[in-house]
This record gives sequence, structure tokens and C-alpha cells, in this order.
Amino acid sequence: MHKTVLVLPGDGIGPEVTTEAIKVIQWFNEKSTHSFDLINGLIGGAAIDHSGSPLSSETITIAKEVDSILLGAVGGPKWDYIENQHKPEKGLLKIRKDLSLFANLRPVTLFRSLSEASPLKSECIVGMDLMIVRELTGDVYFGEPRGITHENSEEFAFNTMRYSVSEIERIAKIAFDIAKQRKSKVCSVDKANVLETSMLWRKTVQSIGDKYYPDVCLSHMYVDNAAMQLIRNPVQFDVLLTSNLFGDILSDEASMLTGSLGMLPSASFGSRHSLYEPIHGSAPDIAGLNIANPLAAILSVAMMFQYSFKLDIEAQMIQMAVSNVLDKGFRTKDIMSSSSTLLATTQMGDMIIQELNQIANRGI
Ligand code: IPM
Ligand code: MN
Repeated sequence: MHKTVLVLPGDGIGPEVTTEAIKVIQWFNEKSTHSFDLINGLIGGAAIDHSGSPLSSETITIAKEVDSILLGAVGGPKWDYIENQHKPEKGLLKIRKDLSLFANLRPVTLFRSLSEASPLKSECIVGMDLMIVRELTGDVYFGEPRGITHENSEEFAFNTMRYSVSEIERIAKIAFDIAKQRKSKVCSVDKANVLETSMLWRKTVQSIGDKYYPDVCLSHMYVDNAAMQLIRNPVQFDVLLTSNLFGDILSDEASMLTGSLGMLPSASFGSRHSLYEPIHGSAPDIAGLNIANPLAAILSVAMMFQYSFKLDIEAQMIQMAVSNVLDKGFRTKDIMSSSSTLLATTQMGDMIIQELNQIANRGI
């Protein structure tokens, strides 16, 4: 198999974690019959510094031609002075929108040896395995009108939360299809006691469930309750389906159940394109220190192999390498515990490569 991947490292720790993820792709280039062509591109602040725009039209053209995209992270205080329409984050939002990447999967998986790193008691998280399905191209993130204006000499700002039936239907179908391959449970999260968009969301998800997925157990939950239930009893969830804004917030919350925000990968796709990125941000406070956790970026490569390239064995090898390295007690700073061995970002990447070598020799 031959595939072309656009690599957009971005800002802050983005380039550091992406470098480690690339080591993994290059390992498969050398050791397997598959070949991956990597094309480098700019997004976010790095692109602003280079050409004044957070995502150039040339990069968008390439993004539409390649087989998949690997992204690091965008943003940082260096670009705080820039007005909203041109900020680094706009590059990320633009690529999601232009490529119609409406579905965002964020698996919240607990690696067995990390139960100690979670702030929850281990009896609360044992058996936890949930998949957040976040809608990614609608909601208040993109709704118009939006802006900042003045009224009666006071400044005010406004955004528009909006969803159409078809936008809700297509993401609901993704969630139900995924649930069918898991424990067949979907919990749809909204704020239907207050918001019209949520009332439509709930009605639409329910009717898709009734019509096409009678065998999937569907429940609905208000987002405030869901935020609480994620801490009280995360094991109750299988697939958690939600809108763009709620999914952004709940996935950061859920990531901590696994021990660190630095552990969660994600997949974003529409009908034609796909993009893989860690859910964490650019963490400017630790950028350049070689202490960031590259595992979310590395696990994002595993998701790319699994979802976009159907390389299931190769994806499993990466997941196994991560799991084994953690079992051996190797940790980056964010997941460090007293009896473990601290590794730098680059060392963690090298350790994953060593482990891949061993897995390849032994067979999976
Ligand atoms: C994420 C990020 C982005 C989002 C930001 C950087 C625009 O927080 O991918 O979760 O809000 O979607
Ligand atoms: Mn986020």
C-alpha cells in the first residue's frame, strides 16, 4: 500500500510531538511493505509567521489531494495580538470546515498501567472505555451572525448556536454505527431543557435511532449532568454523542480520567477527507522543553492506520507498543509516578520504536 500524508505540526509542542509520531510512520516505511510519503505544511501561528495567514490556499489544495493529514496543535500567546479572524485557531477551524470533517472521534481509553495516574480512584475507572463522537463543523463555532459591536456606547459580543436536521442526522448515524461495533449504547448529550438547537438535536437523534438503529440502546442526558456523571461513574458510557462545543469541553474533562490530556488521540473525517490530531493544545508553557507527552500524537497515527488505511494489524502494533512501554514503567512528566522512569519527549518516541522492533521480532 502506498499513501501520502500531509503533516501539519503547527505551534507550541505541536512540532515536538509530531516529530515522534513521524518516527513511527517512518518505522513502517522501513520495516513493512507499505510506504508513506510525507509532505510538510504549515498551519496556525507557524503559517502566520511565514505568510500572514493561518492556512494558505496552497495548503488547503494539498490537504484535499492527500490520503490523510496528521496535525500537531495550533495557537499560543505570541499571536494574541492578532484579531480573531486571523488567529492561529482559525487555521484549524478552516481546515475542518473546508474539508467537511464533520465527525470527530475521541476515544477515552485507559491503559492498564495508568490507572494510578488518574485523579479518580482506580475502582471508579476500571473497565472504562468510551468513545466521544463530537460534531465538528457546526454549532456556535461556525454559526452566523457573530461579532463584536457597540450599543448605547457599550461593547457587546454575540455568537449564534445553530444546527440543521441534516447536520444532526449525519453525525448521529456515525455514532450509532460505531456503537454497533462496541457495546451498542449511545448516550446523546444536549441542553434540551434550555436550548432550541438541543431540542432539535434530541428529537433528530431519537428519530434516527428509532428508524434505523432499533437494536442500539439510546439515552439522552443534559450536558451539566453528563459532566458530573463522567466523574461519578464513567464506566456507564459507551458512545457519547454530542455537539461541537459540548464535545470540546467534555473531551478535555474525560481525558483526565485516563491520567492526562496528553494521552488522547482523535480522528476527524467527512465523506472524503480525514485528519488525525491529539486532542491537546499547543501547551506554550512547556514548548521547546522536550517534556511533552507524544503518546496522543503517536496514537493518532494508530487511528489513521485503522480508520483511513484499514491497516488494523499495524494500528494494533502501535497501541501495543504504547501499552507495553507504559507497563515497563516509562513515563513522560505529565503521567509520572514515584516508581516510574521519567522520559523526555524524544526518548519516549525512541522507546516506542524499540518496542515496535520487539513486537515485530516476536510477532503480535
Ligand atoms: C480542540 C481544540 C480546538 C477546538 C481549538 C484549538 C480551536 O480545543 O480540537 O479540541 O476548540 O476545537
Ligand atoms: Mn479542545
